[in-house]
Amino acid sequence: MSLNNKLLKLSFLSLLSFFSISSFAEISEQRKQELSHLLKHDCGSCHGMTLKGGLGPSLLPETLKLKPDELLFITILEGRPGTPMPPWKAQLSEADANWIIKLLRQGPQ
Ligand code: HEC
Repeated sequence: MSLNNKLLKLSFLSLLSFFSISSFAEISEQRKQELSHLLKHDCGSCHGMTLKGGLGPSLLPETLKLKPDELLFITILEGRPGTPMPPWKAQLSEADANWIIKLLRQGPQ
């Protein structure tokens, strides 16, 4: 196997474990409420209080329908370099990010 292939395989494996480890840990009811508040106020400052879009694009279920969880997960935790979308990994755990994705898929209540 060439070095390139080895590197490719290695980065694929670390990506896999990045997605599977601890990202589905349970989070408390209190944390769920905090996250729902954060989504409305912090994320809402760019994506709109009702998530219909503003500086950032709409995050309504209809708009996100074709986007896989993995893409949203990476975007939330790592941000989108070169765009105003900031990384949230200092504030949010992987479980938090998964919960937010669940909220986004349900749509604003
Ligand atoms: C400072 C403004 C800003 C804040 C705050 C912000 N975002 Fe974003 N977000 C953006 C922009 C701009 C984009 C579009 C990036 C691009 O051009 O690809 C984006 C993209 C996204 C996407 C990808 C959407 C898609 O269609 O691919 C998701 C998911 C997302 N943001 C979630 C969040 C969440 C969750 C929060 C709060 C934890 C948040 N954002 C806070 C500006 C922001």
